Amino acid sequence: MIRHFLRDDDLSPAEQREVLELALEFKRNRAYARPFEGPKSVALLFDKPTLRTQVSFSVGVAELGGYPLLIDGNLAQIGVRESIADTAKVLGRQVSAIVWRTFEQSRLEEMAENVDVPVVNALTDAFHPCQVLADLASIAYVKGGLEALPGLKLAYIGDGANNMAHSYLLGGATAGCHVTIATPTDYLPDDTVFADAEELAVRTGGSVSVVHDPTEAVAGVDVVATDTWVSMGTERERVDREKAFKGFQVTEELMALASADAVVIHCLPAYRGKEITAGVLEGPQSIVWDEAEFRLHAQKAILMWLVEQ
Ligand code: CP
Repeated sequence: MIRHFLRDDDLSPAEQREVLELALEFKRNRAYARPFEGPKSVALLFDKPTLRTQVSFSVGVAELGGYPLLIDGNLAQIGVRESIADTAKVLGRQVSAIVWRTFEQSRLEEMAENVDVPVVNALTDAFHPCQVLADLASIAYVKGGLEALPGLKLAYIGDGANNMAHSYLLGGATAGCHVTIATPTDYLPDDTVFADAEELAVRTGGSVSVVHDPTEAVAGVDVVATDTWVSMGTERERVDREKAFKGFQVTEELMALASADAVVIHCLPAYRGKEITAGVLEGPQSIVWDEAEFRLHAQKAILMWLVEQ
């Protein structure tokens, strides 16, 4: 059966661990494996802006021995010029995997339903699972290995309704982490996603919770995460959002409440003086550049794992 990676819980806890082990192996040795020798081509489709994702997937596919086929969504116009199903059938005859950054999760699901090669979510409005794989791998890397993840306390401060919050809930619960989302009352995670994460956490020994006070969320945690207050597609709400999230900035004062060896993560791009201060982003607790590098290792790992199933 073809496996896809459309949301974080498409990997079971054991499978997520296999992928994270592979990511750490690729960190140790970038030439660890070349399963796309041939070369096999991977379609990299982007309907939204990107720097890290297109670079890390392009470099990653090349390092796996394959050919990264970068496709501008504005030119392909998937779902406008041609249906998603027809696009899937065309791509499926030519490439070994499809990586797609797009809008609604349903678009990605429709692609996966109509193709017999793996489809990978490179960010949708609902989830950013490759980012959270990279985040978990980079946390494990700086905290001494994968054993650090079960029981780890992670607080996400900011927009609880965005794709990163949803992926921290699902991906973190899969890894057995205790995930707390601190968000204003108008920006709650999707109920179904939260319920799925709760159910997963029961199985893995983790937990998920939502609070509205960032100081409560970060007390004693191992990892503090944040993201832009204005996700792609919400730019028109900028003024309202900046008002709503004013008390949700990751500052030096907030970090002082976390564990002494806590690290800070941010998927980037970061907006200094908005969701995070420049001092925290560039300070000794920040691992954001390791995290950005781990996009490469984690995505090589998930691509290799998917094509080998
Ligand atoms: N974090 C992330 O996905 O970066 P890009 O939007 O630049 O790809």
